[in-house]
Order: sequence, then C-alpha cells, then structure tokens
Amino acid sequence: MAFEMVAVVGLGTMGAGIAEVFARAGLRVIGVEADADALATGRGHVERSTQRAVDRGRLSGGERDAILGRITLTTSREDLREADLVVEAIPEVLDYKRSLFADLDRICKPETVLATNTSSLPVTAIAAATGRQGRVIGMHFFNPAPVMGLVEVVSTVLTDPALVPEISELARRLGKTPVAVGDRAGFVVNRLLLPYLNQAAVLLEQGLARRDDIDAAMRLGVGLPMGPFALLDLIGLDTAYEVMGVLFDETRDRRHAPAPLLRELVSARLLGRKSGRGFHGDEPRPREPDR
Ligand code: 3HC
Repeated sequence: MAFEMVAVVGLGTMGAGIAEVFARAGLRVIGVEADADALATGRGHVERSTQRAVDRGRLSGGERDAILGRITLTTSREDLREADLVVEAIPEVLDYKRSLFADLDRICKPETVLATNTSSLPVTAIAAATGRQGRVIGMHFFNPAPVMGLVEVVSTVLTDPALVPEISELARRLGKTPVAVGDRAGFVVNRLLLPYLNQAAVLLEQGLARRDDIDAAMRLGVGLPMGPFALLDLIGLDTAYEVMGVLFDETRDRRHAPAPLLRELVSARLLGRKSGRGFHGDEPRPREPDR
C-alpha cells in the first residue's frame, strides 16, 4: 500500500514529533487534537523543533516551510476518512484508545491502517475494539521522535502478517530502522530500559549515590547519551511510572514494582521536562545522601 496521506491523533510531545517525521519524509499529514488550544500547542512543538533544525543549519527556511505546509490540523476525526494510515498518540489510557479506535474504524475507509504508538498497553486489546483487527498494528516511536532512529513494529495474533513488512518499509522511508516485536508489555526497549531507570530511582532513594553522580556514572561509564534521571525527565515520570505499572502487572516480578520515589514525584506532578521539574529542575528535589 502506498502511504501518502497519514494522520496523527494526539499532538503532545510524541504525536507532534511523529507528525514532523512524516512531513519531513514528504507525506501529507493531518494532525488531530481535541480542541483549538491543543492544536496550537501541537503546532508549536513542530514549529520549535523545525526552527531548531534551521538554526543549526540542518534545514533551510524553505524546507521548513514545506514541512509545515504538509501538515494540516483539525479537531474533527471525520476528516480522516481518506487517510491511508492513522497513528494514535493519545494518553496511555486503554479505554480512551479503544474508544478512539472504534471511532476510527467507523470513520476511515476499509483499507486504512490503524496504528498505535502505545508504550506498553496491549495492542491486541486496542485492535479488538475494531472490526479490522488485521489492519491494526503498533508503531512505537521514541522520544525525541525526529531524532531517535528506531520504530518498534508491534504485531498481534490478529495482525495480517503482510502488514508488518509494509509498515517496516514505511519506517525505512521515514529514515528509521524498524524492528518487529510481539505484543508483550514494554515490547523490547521499554521492557529492558524502564527497569534500569526504575532501579536508578531505587538506588537514589537508598542513598547509594547522588543524583548527578548516578547520571554521570551511566553517561561516562557506559557511554549513554543521558544519565537515568535526565532520561526519566525527558520521557516523563508519569509515562515511566505507567510503563512500570504495566510491566509489573504482566510479569508480577517484584523487581518491576514502580519505585516509591517515582510514585511520590508523579503524585506531586513533578513530571520532568513537560512540567518544568522532575528529578532535575528547581526545588523541591528528592532527598540526596550527604556525601
Ligand atoms: N526535538 C527535535 N530534535 C531534537 C530534540 C527534540 N526534542 N532534542 C534534540 N534534538 C536534535 C538536535 O536538534 C540535534 O540535531 P542536529 O544534530 O541535527 O543538530 C540532535 O538532536 C542532538 O541534540 P543536542 O545537541 O541538543 O543534544 P544531545 O546531543 O545531548 O542529544 C538527545 C539530545 C538526542 C535527546 C540525546 O541526549 C539522546 O539520544 N538521549 C537519549 C534519548 C532516549 O533514550 N530516548 C528514548 C527514550 S524511551 C522512549 O521514548 C520510549 C517511550 O515509550 C517511553
């Protein structure tokens, strides 16, 4: 299938980044949000991200204009009737996603592929809300979407096997490397990454080392681009907490129990970059050992 017209539902950090990725690859993109304010915020994400690329000499002003020109915004899902692919990037609440997919199934032409960018929710349960389970798939991007090179292509027992290479080919067209994965909590990346990040919060709480020293240890000792607390702030502590909860529910492995410190910061709405504070940022900060 030729994917020329795609839609992204939900223009938060991830959805806006995904819309930018499609538009950069020359596809026409419809961005959907619940209201005009949310649309303006989403457009702001793409404008800032592409401006940053212009400032760094990675894009010309004309290319930026062309990218922005390929993105149209709407608050009406009914505008998605002719989309070849819809990627959902709304909050990680299964009921919201199932109800959105049931709606998209009603609205979109029968051949439209419905994809979810869920970090950890079961794609199978989302697909089951539609009458086109064979054309529902996971397309999991990574934050920041315009930069990170991977897309996890998540198939379920219901997914048409021919769809996996089609979506993988699309990911390559976007300049990403696809990996095919099954529908288990966290897929591959979050299944391996989030327990590590969670354990960093446990070690901080235990007073093993200071926050900045743990970050420096993992950057300089392992060569990661960011330490665990900087990365938790990028991902969003609420997202990290939700993913850990899903991992714990599926595995019942107590090593996957969300760290109490993570829960405390999420309750305090210290969510990382999106709220201005998380493990890094202004006071209040998590307690640090005196060493
Ligand atoms: N949007 C768009 N572009 C961005 C960006 C953003 N938010 N942040 C950085 N960039 C671009 C910059 O423009 C720059 O591009 P250039 O090389 O063309 O000039 C490039 O990325 C490097 O940026 P910087 O020089 O500002 O900063 P760094 O070199 O420190 O890189 C980083 C920033 C790319 C975020 C890097 O630190 C990194 O790779 N961190 C790890 C990120 C990671 O692990 N993400 C996965 C999280 S897990 C996840 O998303 C799954 C989910 O389900 C939870």
